[in-house]
Amino acid sequence: MTERTLVLVKPDGVERGLTGQILARVEAKGYKIVELKLVQATREILEQHYEEHQGKPFFEPLVEFMGSGPVVAAVVEGNRVIEGFRSLAGSTEPTTAPPGTIRGDLGRDWGEKVQKNLVHGSDSPESAAREIGIWFA
Ligand code: TYD
Ligand code: MG
Repeated sequence: MTERTLVLVKPDGVERGLTGQILARVEAKGYKIVELKLVQATREILEQHYEEHQGKPFFEPLVEFMGSGPVVAAVVEGNRVIEGFRSLAGSTEPTTAPPGTIRGDLGRDWGEKVQKNLVHGSDSPESAAREIGIWFA
């Protein structure tokens, strides 16, 4: 039942000084941070990470945004943490993400082409294994 997931604090979260608050929510929920680093992602890493979105209209702005500043990458462990972190993060669009979630409490629309929504969390065990391999090779 114990799983691992990849969590990213995106450049907007790092830039706004929200890394501590975001990681504190992960820890307060009871999950364990087992790997942690600040990284300036290369285009190569980002193209691999967002492979499933290649060809979509938001892909280019997304890769550009994710490379616009450092991100915090973490491997987080716990029972059902993949589903649990997605629930903590809230839905993709921060304007309508439920209050109580990271995106709902700390995010908003900034009038950009891409949703600056503070965090990434893997969406399945297969994605988690693949993404952890990319960020913590
Ligand atoms: P997605 O994997 O669908 O969302 P999530 O991060 O909730 O798993 O999309 C990846 C990122 O792409 C998302 O966090 C923000 C961006 N994005 C947009 O900017 N516009 C969109 O319409 C979608 C679907 C995603
Ligand atoms: Mg996703």
